[in-house]
Amino acid sequence: MKTDVKNVFIGLLNAIQAGKIYSEGHPTFKEFVDVLYRRLVEHLGEKREIILGIIEGELAWEDEIYFELSQRLKSLVEFLQECGINRIIFRPGLRPDELSAFITFLTRPGKRRSLESQETDELQGLENIHVGKLRAGAARPAKGDADRERHARYEGSLEFASRSLTAVLNKEEVDFLDLRFNILSVMENFMGRHQELLNLISVKEKDLITFVHLLHVSVLSMSFASKLGFAKDDVLDLGIAALFHDVGKLHISSEILKKEGKLADDEFARIKGHPLLGSMILQGYQDTLGILPPVVAFEHHLRFDRKGYPKVSYPRPPHVASLIVSLCDVYDALAQKRSYKTDCPPNKIHEIMNLEKGKLFDPALLDRFFQVIGVWPIGTIVMLTDGRVAVVREVNEQDIFKPKVEVVHPEATGEIIDLLEAKERVQVREALNPMGKGQKYLEHVFAGG
Ligand SMILES: [Fe+2]
Ligand SMILES: [Fe+2]
Repeated sequence: MKTDVKNVFIGLLNAIQAGKIYSEGHPTFKEFVDVLYRRLVEHLGEKREIILGIIEGELAWEDEIYFELSQRLKSLVEFLQECGINRIIFRPGLRPDELSAFITFLTRPGKRRSLESQETDELQGLENIHVGKLRAGAARPAKGDADRERHARYEGSLEFASRSLTAVLNKEEVDFLDLRFNILSVMENFMGRHQELLNLISVKEKDLITFVHLLHVSVLSMSFASKLGFAKDDVLDLGIAALFHDVGKLHISSEILKKEGKLADDEFARIKGHPLLGSMILQGYQDTLGILPPVVAFEHHLRFDRKGYPKVSYPRPPHVASLIVSLCDVYDALAQKRSYKTDCPPNKIHEIMNLEKGKLFDPALLDRFFQVIGVWPIGTIVMLTDGRVAVVREVNEQDIFKPKVEVVHPEATGEIIDLLEAKERVQVREALNPMGKGQKYLEHVFAGG
């Protein structure tokens, strides 16, 4: 039986530690390098390569992130990060002397071990070991003011969303490690900030509106799932499935859009076929992306009462991931309307969606959803009953109509009012559209974080 992946990581850590203590020729060092070598060769087998990476502080092996192991092997993570290493690729033909030289290079005392420098030249001599950084659409932003940084992060994420979707549409290979890395960045940057994302859409992004929607549904689904107590791995899987849920629609519309004139009935019928088509496309990626994306693509219009489409004959209710995505899908579609002419404020969305309780949406899930994001989500600009303007900073789960808000007008003093306990019964009167009346307060929306 093959050694566990975990043992390869442990082998690497041991070899690095031995490299720090002993010289290259020392038998103990050799012994540890040998163990690591044997474990790597065992795993290489018939493979083209093995990729070992660090993704936002977590250990990754090929297409999997090892959250628990990362905790246990913190020193390995830190060491590799300190070296500026995000990815090590081992190829067949790997030799013990190469591995030994590599570990020695990393652990050489008194040297700044940054791979940014010309030191990489030394690594070029190693034929079967490659070191590098992960490509990262949503990686660290460039230096600049907070607004620019935020927007750069948003654009990076959007670029990542469109790149991944375009790859699938073109039936190109998907780099799963890269995908997971980027979805993790999206999660860390925007978790719980759906309302704020809506404010980041600029004119430029409107050309990419489908990708904007898919990215936002992904963010919203991940935020909700983690509040529901999903494990981090499952949250990421859901984020990926959400990102791809409408891939069938993208495929169809790109064809239909090329056609001039009005859409015929059969073309509308084809649009209705997007769940099935999407799931078929995604089944082609089952080896890399797993089963959840095709399931969610297939089921996201089934509805809780199963009166949606496609028509299915089995009595099984939709997967919880599909129920979450369909909920977030509708929420984002309604919320995005707000960015344009039709104003659909958050309380109206809450009202509309509640009418579908038990029909389109699972009742318990819908209740929990609004309990988590509130009627007035974090980042909403609101007018209070006493005429002051404030930004929602925290949701009160006990009463979703009464969040904690920060006053920004007439004076932005940083005063926080908990509307649950507010004296004089100050409440939210209405939300101010960030594209309209609320625009002049936009600068305060992000001030809290
Ligand atoms: Fe859809
Ligand atoms: Fe959608």
